[in-house]
Amino acid sequence: MEQRKSIWETDDSGLTREGENRPRLTDSIKKDVIVIGGGMAGILTAWFLQRKGADVAVVEAAGVGSGQTAHTTAKITWQHGLIYAWLTQKLGPEAAGEYARAGQQAAEDYQQIIQGERIDCDFKRLPAYLYTKDRLGDLEDEAMAARLCGIDCKIQKETELPFPVAGALRFDGQASFHPLKFLRAVSEKLEIYENSPVLEMDGCTVTTPEGSAEGKSVILASHFPFINVPGYYFLKTHQERSYVLALERAQRLRGMYYGIDPGLSWSMRSAGDCLLLGGAGHRTGFIPKQDPYTVLRETAEAFWPGASVVESWSAQDCVAAGRLPYIGPFSKNTPGLYVATGFGKWGMVHSMISARVLTNEIMGTARRKKTIFDPGKRKLSTGLAAILKNGAVSTKNLMASWAGVRPKCPHLGCRLHWNPWESTWECQCHGSRFGEDGSLLADPAQTKLDFD
Ligand code: FES
Repeated sequence: MEQRKSIWETDDSGLTREGENRPRLTDSIKKDVIVIGGGMAGILTAWFLQRKGADVAVVEAAGVGSGQTAHTTAKITWQHGLIYAWLTQKLGPEAAGEYARAGQQAAEDYQQIIQGERIDCDFKRLPAYLYTKDRLGDLEDEAMAARLCGIDCKIQKETELPFPVAGALRFDGQASFHPLKFLRAVSEKLEIYENSPVLEMDGCTVTTPEGSAEGKSVILASHFPFINVPGYYFLKTHQERSYVLALERAQRLRGMYYGIDPGLSWSMRSAGDCLLLGGAGHRTGFIPKQDPYTVLRETAEAFWPGASVVESWSAQDCVAAGRLPYIGPFSKNTPGLYVATGFGKWGMVHSMISARVLTNEIMGTARRKKTIFDPGKRKLSTGLAAILKNGAVSTKNLMASWAGVRPKCPHLGCRLHWNPWESTWECQCHGSRFGEDGSLLADPAQTKLDFD
């Protein structure tokens, strides 16, 4: 079965999964910085670094924007579910405030780049809402914590949604855009090698099938880090899938929405004439009993009778234990190596934050003040429950594989699970995905699936 395409891929952005006729890496090159991954995080980081005077090259396994960036719902927001109350409780008000300011700065950065470069990418400022039918108390706690972080917000009882809510927490000044139109414009002047998967790394030298690239610094911006040791990101992150419908003849929403109630956590925003309805998520490899696309279709029929599906696709999010993404030095034993991963569902804002943080780190424009995103600053206790769960999932799937259950994931050897709704093999351990024919669809695995 051919992989589904998002609404961003099927319109006129000009980016394709196969790439844009950019060259493969066939030489040995030396640069100030090598960025691995041509998604939003990698391209923005390369763009910032180049503007600061660095000699940068991006090495991308397929085409620019062909990975998770093509599947996002493209909300630029610092409203990330119930995050501010949680951060305030776990890390304190200063950390929660830093998180809020980083998100606000990221939205400003998008706007400045779009205006400064005159990028036509449907960028629009609009409000975002967290809505609930029965967790009003949690929403009020979130509103109070957000205000203490300097966020102007309020709870409304009335919304434009086609169902009643107990409350909706409104953040103004958020934004939406067309991610691939934007990415195409910012990648135009960068040195990029497409269809050049990294097979090996030795210090700050990466090897691809036909060439190699050496940097004074190397940035891993390939969604899920494929280096296992040191760093141990495979223990500190897991991957989740969610599904999206683009609907015609539904409703033109003036805001963006995200539900916080279990079983009702729909994501909604308008994009041109379409309404994007997202949800039905699950941890990758934990196959739902009911087809997630059917769940979404039935939901759409209930909310907007007469609407029809234009496109449907799925997204894969890398979720960090402790909820904060990992952005900064990869580990204390890997000088020159940096990482940007664990963005959860908020890839657009975290990509921009990565670009700023990593540019400051590498170009020395900040006094190396550790940010809350720095992997080395993270206390194990913050995400301990998630780390233990990740360990338990891996142990179970490794034992099944050792007992002979096949097929086996080429990453670290866990057994794989068949997802009939997507016709893919999926790994519960760290989220690698493969097509029916064994082709590699999602990292951290770096090679295709061998069925023998
Ligand atoms: Fe790590 Fe499969 S993704 S073992």
